Amino acid sequence: MKKLNGKILKYNIAIFISGRGSNLKSIINYSLKNKTKYKVKIVISNKQRAKGLSIAKKNGIKNYFMNFTKSKKLGNFVLKDLKSNDIKLVCLAGFMKILPRYFIKSYNGKIINIHPSLLPKYKGLNTHKRVIINKEKFTGCTVHYVNRYLDSGKIILQRKVKINPKDTEKTIERKVLKIEHKIYPLAINKILTSL
Ligand code: GRF
Repeated sequence: MKKLNGKILKYNIAIFISGRGSNLKSIINYSLKNKTKYKVKIVISNKQRAKGLSIAKKNGIKNYFMNFTKSKKLGNFVLKDLKSNDIKLVCLAGFMKILPRYFIKSYNGKIINIHPSLLPKYKGLNTHKRVIINKEKFTGCTVHYVNRYLDSGKIILQRKVKINPKDTEKTIERKVLKIEHKIYPLAINKILTSL
């Protein structure tokens, strides 16, 4: 771990959200632990009313709303902001837009996402519903690198969750989310170790 005058130097990361921000919260909480390798420096939402923005505010983290996938001008503004804040990793946490190609290229290999299924199964939306329809015995969540294809980048970390016959979409969501909150902060730390 890098140190300066005996103090541990943490890598700056950015989180992109669109809504509730429960993963954001778990990532922030983990980052406050002593031995964590990262600090959440910026939170950007593409939705003005995203609840996650208030979580960032409460924690004194720079945050703003910008629908930046809408135009290259806004996208470049965000890229410049990330670079001037020395952001080493961008983490999508419930970010509901596909990032434009130029954006991914510019942060090549340094953007990750969490998805509520055992990828490569169930890419895209409504994963829990589809898992029930297909009578799966297990589901789970996956942290993966972002490339230009939906939910298709290299897998970093994955955990299984058992489905019981009585489970509903809601109960599966709850169980999977609990595991997401555990693995996302760990995956971030794991990647930053290899930098
Ligand atoms: C999570 O289930 C995540 O896997 C998916 O979107 C949801 C976001 O939830 N990509 P939250 O905003 O982190 O609470």
